[in-house]
Amino acid sequence: MAVTSRTRVGIVGAGPAGLLLAHLLALHGIESVVVENRSREYCEARQRAGLLEAGTVELLRGVGLGKRLDAEGMEHGGIYLQFDGQRHHLDFRSLTDGRWVTIYAQTEIVKDMIAARLAAGAVIEFSASDVAVSDVTSDRPVLSYRDASGVAHEVSCDVIAGCDGFHGICRPLVPNLSVYERAYPYAWLGILADAAPSTDELIYSRHRDGFALYSMRSPEVSRLYLQVAPDEPVADWPDDRIWAELQKRFAVDGWSVSEGTITDKSVTAMRSFVAVPMRHGRLFLAGDAAHIVPPTGAKGLNLAFSDVIVLAGALRAALLDGSWELAGAYSDMCLDRVWRATHFSWWMTSMLHVAPGQDPFESQLQLAQLRYVTSSRAAAKSLAENYCGYKPLSLQAPA
Ligand code: FAD
Ligand code: PHB
Repeated sequence: MAVTSRTRVGIVGAGPAGLLLAHLLALHGIESVVVENRSREYCEARQRAGLLEAGTVELLRGVGLGKRLDAEGMEHGGIYLQFDGQRHHLDFRSLTDGRWVTIYAQTEIVKDMIAARLAAGAVIEFSASDVAVSDVTSDRPVLSYRDASGVAHEVSCDVIAGCDGFHGICRPLVPNLSVYERAYPYAWLGILADAAPSTDELIYSRHRDGFALYSMRSPEVSRLYLQVAPDEPVADWPDDRIWAELQKRFAVDGWSVSEGTITDKSVTAMRSFVAVPMRHGRLFLAGDAAHIVPPTGAKGLNLAFSDVIVLAGALRAALLDGSWELAGAYSDMCLDRVWRATHFSWWMTSMLHVAPGQDPFESQLQLAQLRYVTSSRAAAKSLAENYCGYKPLSLQAPA
């Protein structure tokens, strides 16, 4: 016999989307339960995003999650674009109305949100198994799971939020889903290294042997990525080979990548994916559960948060005021921004990566585009505006 209980919102997944949703709902006085199939340690250590749009930073500050972000986050007012052995700076503050981005790792945001939920006495069921969702077209959908000690639970909810990422269980519950997809013929090998970054801002480099990105996590820790083949075994990349390839792809006269001990290494496939609609009955999808972008535009986490803001506003209207109008508009409201970010991420990816067997015509087009972006103020302004983020996030979904 399962232990039965009741909550207002059942949330599947304790990634950025699920944790922020639980936090925002609590601010509205709405109770939720978060069920996660990984351990707390795993969720807090999973290396992913690093770059936050200004709107995301302002949101986190506004909801009481800004303390460590303000102390440890690194504000950047631009990026470097490198191609043909030349490095060019794009100054976002002067190209936009003073906008900027912040480097603060997803691992740290997840830690901050978990700590805030637990301090508020909330339930996060880590290491759950057999997670399932049923009755989503009724007004009492059920979230069931086995807790870490094997006890079965059934939670009766008003609404379920599928925040369970790309490989989750919620998206397949939406019938007649339209899927728009692009798999790219390359992946990113990402490393973390105990090495002081030898750059003040991120460097996106197109090299004839492939793309490379220089990012960072702190004044002492670098985060670097190399374009590799999609099925590349990490074992084929011993540390010496990684540093040699990074030095080559970032080479400019009189400058080098600072090297150090590599503490994490992983390969991520590159994909664009949009599932429509993001709602079925009382089930709402948010974040990577509904859409994926290649990380070249640094948009995935920022998009997941913008879904959640809209969803929290819609659920507040539905569950506190009995108005389901915003819930009905949820999918369309999110998809507008999702498609803008999907285009930008695809565009950045296509401009900077070299596909296997790419013909010289394609290469010349990429270089022409890069020369345009670094010489035309209008083109640079468009890149900067997309990179820094779209219309400001607001805690209230627009009517
Ligand atoms: P996830 O982070 O995938 O969280 C889903 C959660 O659900 C996970 O904890 C998972 O364990 C859990 N789950 C899955 N299945 C189940 C189940 N059956 N039951 C219970 N729980 C389940 N984005 C940016 O904005 N900026 C960046 O700079 C950036 N850089 C990136 C770099 C890399 C290398 C990668 C891979 C991604 C990057 N992203 C970036 C994207 C960003 O990391 C994701 O978009 C973000 O993690 C999405 O959050 P989410 O909560 O929707 O999904
Ligand atoms: C990161 O810091 O991990 C990062 C930054 C910018 C990107 C992707 C990843 O475009």
